[in-house]
Amino acid sequence: MTAPVKKLNALVIGGTSGIGQGIALALASRGCNVTIAGRTPKDVLPLLKAAGKDGTHEFIAVNGFDLKTLDDLPAPDLLVMTHGMATTQGYTPTVDGIDQKLQLHYFSRLYIARKLAPKMPENGRIITVLSAGVHSRYPKFNEDFTLEKNYSVTNAADAAGFYTDAGFEKLADDFPNLVVCHASPGFVSTNWGTEMPWYVKGPVRVLQVFGKSLEKCGEIITSSWLDLSPGKYNTIDQNGKPCKTKVLHTPAEREIIVSKTDELLGLA
Ligand SMILES: NC(=O)c1ccc[n+]([C@@H]2O[C@H](COP(=O)([O-])OP(=O)(O)OC[C@H]3O[C@@H](n4cnc5c(N)ncnc54)[C@H](OP(=O)(O)O)[C@@H]3O)[C@@H](O)[C@H]2O)c1
Repeated sequence: MTAPVKKLNALVIGGTSGIGQGIALALASRGCNVTIAGRTPKDVLPLLKAAGKDGTHEFIAVNGFDLKTLDDLPAPDLLVMTHGMATTQGYTPTVDGIDQKLQLHYFSRLYIARKLAPKMPENGRIITVLSAGVHSRYPKFNEDFTLEKNYSVTNAADAAGFYTDAGFEKLADDFPNLVVCHASPGFVSTNWGTEMPWYVKGPVRVLQVFGKSLEKCGEIITSSWLDLSPGKYNTIDQNGKPCKTKVLHTPAEREIIVSKTDELLGLA
């Protein structure tokens, strides 16, 4: 049965556009107070106000390329992380010395979740929207954890998904009072790919005509996530169902990924 969420506080990192905006709208329409976070608020706040007249909605400026901007976020009841980028760029370190794409898709998200989880209430919820059930293993996680020597668009995508399952599965074990979930959105019509070169962006924009709307994607993910119970790591696919393949790592591999993540983020 779907948990009642009216008046709960939701924090949506990446809620300033795309899938995050879709989830923010779905939560606002259910009566949540929604805080969207990103680099610029764009024009999302009036849309939230129209969707959720009962709640109060605001914007917080953060930059996922700089972990210290994520240090003082308010602990919510519902935490959503969708911030990301699609580029064909090579290994590009942030001020934290981590590749930009890996930092947005995995490291910054685990950093936020690990900081906020201890402050979240019983039955609180955390979701990261990336590639549940659709990524492959990144086999060089032990010798080249941060991809400095083996960077490619494919390895960056696989490593982010592979590490997400390991890191967030451990989070679910450590916080059995929370619902922890990794979702895969399927193909969605968003601004995804803005940073790509024109010859890639063009075909992506054509294909996006056939993608789901951000509102529909937000509704599918939100209703499935709110249906889950605390106590175990969850994955949901593009149709809102549990993924057939849940994780690809072994328990021993998970320990290595978690300990390398903690060391890199200074969380150990
Ligand atoms: N769209 C798809 O078809 C699709 C398919 C599979 C997986 N995904 C994954 O789903 C996630 C969301 O994708 P989307 O389509 O919603 O992308 P999007 O429309 O491009 O939105 C990306 C969001 O990330 C935020 N962001 C980007 N760089 C940031 C930074 N440095 N710091 C903080 N926030 C930042 C942006 O906000 P600001 O610009 O305000 O910072 C924006 O709200 C991504 O991880 C993507 O890989 C998407």
